Amino acid sequence: MSSAMNPLRPLLRSAIRRASAPVSSARMARRTLVTPTNINHAQVSDIQVNATQGVREDPGEFDEGDVIASESQSGEGMFGFKLNPVATKTGGHAKSEGRPIYLDMQATTPMDPRVLDRMLPFFTEQFGNPHSRTHAYGWEAESAVDEARKHVASLVGAHEKDIVFTSGATESNNMIVKGIAKFYQKSGRKHIVTTQTEHKCVLDSCRYLESQGFEVTYLPVLPNGLVSLSELRAALRPTTTLVTIMAVNNEIGVIQPLKEISDTIRSWAKENGVTKPFFHTDGAQAVGKIPIDVEAMGIDAMSISAHKIYGPKGVGAAYVRRRPRVRLEPLIHGGGQERGLRSGTVAAPLVVGMGEACRIAMEDMPADHARIKVLSDRLVKGITSQVDQIVRNGDPSGYPGCVNLSFSYVEGESLLMALKDIALSSGSACTSASLEPSYVLRALGAADDMAHSSLRFGIGRFTTEAEIDLVIDRIVSVVNRLREMSPLWEMVQEGIDISKIEWAAH
Ligand SMILES: Cc1ncc(COP(=O)(O)O)c(C=O)c1O
Repeated sequence: MSSAMNPLRPLLRSAIRRASAPVSSARMARRTLVTPTNINHAQVSDIQVNATQGVREDPGEFDEGDVIASESQSGEGMFGFKLNPVATKTGGHAKSEGRPIYLDMQATTPMDPRVLDRMLPFFTEQFGNPHSRTHAYGWEAESAVDEARKHVASLVGAHEKDIVFTSGATESNNMIVKGIAKFYQKSGRKHIVTTQTEHKCVLDSCRYLESQGFEVTYLPVLPNGLVSLSELRAALRPTTTLVTIMAVNNEIGVIQPLKEISDTIRSWAKENGVTKPFFHTDGAQAVGKIPIDVEAMGIDAMSISAHKIYGPKGVGAAYVRRRPRVRLEPLIHGGGQERGLRSGTVAAPLVVGMGEACRIAMEDMPADHARIKVLSDRLVKGITSQVDQIVRNGDPSGYPGCVNLSFSYVEGESLLMALKDIALSSGSACTSASLEPSYVLRALGAADDMAHSSLRFGIGRFTTEAEIDLVIDRIVSVVNRLREMSPLWEMVQEGIDISKIEWAAH
């Protein structure tokens, strides 16, 4: 685009003029700032800042109406666009208008407007490097990072010094699994225990370690997705350094019994007079959604992600206990930030957002959980009371915001295609690019066709009752329509036992 045509040019010119103008007063100055307002509506304006402290005077209060707006009659979403379609009934069928209904909260969550508000100043006037020790810009960023660290730590019952900021749970999982394995291999312990239903980033870290000469036991799970404590006990060896078992499964919402797992590891080590293997849990889908207390649950290391709890993408944390100390070999070397475990400048705006998301989670968790449970029960009842032959995957007492259903005699791909007005996932978002049936459902013993016809419904803080009702209507009508077109379904309706049919080979 030629500069003459660039509509941003006058704005840029005035911003440059303002930036290069001399500061008129050392005490009070006028700075340009992006106001802490809803995205898409952010405006450039001049406000007064205290130049000596560089602290914004008007932090911008969260307006509860921002969130409640997601349930408004007009269908205006919390960010000013139509995030939540309006449930309009035409001829008995619900119709969605605007953007698809978002029911994919395990893939990611929308950022809470309160989080965005807290973050914005750290992109603009409070832009300092938190590791700069010689001036106020650095100090204010450092103090904001320290505060965020406290929020993350208190959400999981940890000491703030045990929290290491990373780019997300993928990095934390890699760092902890590979880091612990590599550090302790010097003592001859080269065995790791995990489960077959872990997230890919844990499984692939384990595969990598196998290529480096480590031995890994991939525990099967019970048909409800839970790990068997007796199988865990039987898998432990004197050379086991690490047991890594996720807290909440991202596909089926199953909650593993973390305390019982750590008790099993501890008692096994005591009985056998050997060093206790470390217990790591991938808490990406658990922290901020269900109560987690690392002390009470005997967790030595844990991975956390911000964008699963209404925080920003690209930031996470690793809980790495210092007393008794868990040691690990860092993956990233450099300036020695984050206890030397994760070098690199800490992303202050993202970390501030993560801290705020954790602070809010601490306050809102009981109310969020209760509301999500009501919506989840409504969804399951609404669908299963109108459609037969549905299997709920995973233990039903798991996290209610993750509901995984398989629809017999419906082809999974056609199901997703027909439900384009609902944003959901079949299996894990990270692996749904491939059409392989989900490895998690396979590990539960699901047949390939049932794994193929599964849908994951992810319900969250901003999901509304109207959305759930609309989804129920859509699912019921689409499944019924697809089954009407299915020859197999017709045979089942005629009372033919299709499991006894001998199909001719071609
Ligand atoms: C259980 C689990 N672990 C790890 C991750 C990776 O998290 P992040 O996106 O923060 O790297 C995810 C995200 O899908 C997850 O669900």
